[in-house]
Amino acid sequence: MADLDDLREGNNFGLGIATTGNRFHVKGAEHLPWGMKDRLSRIFNPKTGRTVMLAFDHGFIMGPTSGLERIDLTIVPLIEYADCLMCTRGILRTMIPPSTNKPICLRSDAGTSILTELNDNVLIDIEDAIRLNVSAMAVMLSIGDAAYEAKTIANLYRAVDRGTRYGIPVMGVTAVGKDMVRDARYFGLASRIAAENGANIVKTYYCDGFEKVVAACPVPVVIAGGKKLPEQEALELCYKAISEGASGVDMGRNVFQSEAPAAMIQAVHAVVHENLKPEMALELFNELKNK
Ligand code: 5RP
Repeated sequence: MADLDDLREGNNFGLGIATTGNRFHVKGAEHLPWGMKDRLSRIFNPKTGRTVMLAFDHGFIMGPTSGLERIDLTIVPLIEYADCLMCTRGILRTMIPPSTNKPICLRSDAGTSILTELNDNVLIDIEDAIRLNVSAMAVMLSIGDAAYEAKTIANLYRAVDRGTRYGIPVMGVTAVGKDMVRDARYFGLASRIAAENGANIVKTYYCDGFEKVVAACPVPVVIAGGKKLPEQEALELCYKAISEGASGVDMGRNVFQSEAPAAMIQAVHAVVHENLKPEMALELFNELKNK
């Protein structure tokens, strides 16, 4: 029987005070169910609406590329500074301590390597994503690639259908084929197609006219860092993207190939969450690097 000793009557009903309605902090997610929102809130900080995702899924295409030879030595020490980790299931299971308690954006498709062109594209079994308790699934979209556009759109579609069934958001990753022009028209098209097909987050690249890419995309846009740049340029890139509406970064090489990866991710974090100007962020980077 329930313990009825000292059972107190409620007397604090806030009569006359309207129930607090909370607007959700992630673009385009207002009408999603609770589980989806909970997962998105693990990725996007509810205070700023932004995120610093650390991408280290490159090995699924590139093998042990520079900075990712030993994930345990180079990436694990950075985990504490990231809001979310983007990686493959192989690295997650073997290298990432489950006790880190960070949300995972799981690379959920595969189909190519640096030795070939895209040759097929397969999608993870949703049950494996559930087993890994991921907060999002990342799926590539090859817009403009005559051979694989339809295949990758079909995979995104399937991932969204399955993710929706279990409350797992999907991030559409806009791949850029060699023949594509990296401009706002292309990234705007690819991002919008990702969102229209159900992606809850879009990952794309910064470009001139980026604000139009963001404006026309009904879900949050995060940027990839792309090839390694000098730290100052990478911080300028982050700042411009955030100022023009990006909801964060999903950055890899510009963090883990930096001369001081821990200092770099903290500087990126300050740009993303505190709008720190690039000059100040570079100062912060240098200060942390020399500690
Ligand atoms: C490729 C990816 C990579 O994770 C992505 O490119 C992020 O890394 P980087 O900042 O090094 O470009 O999603 O499809």
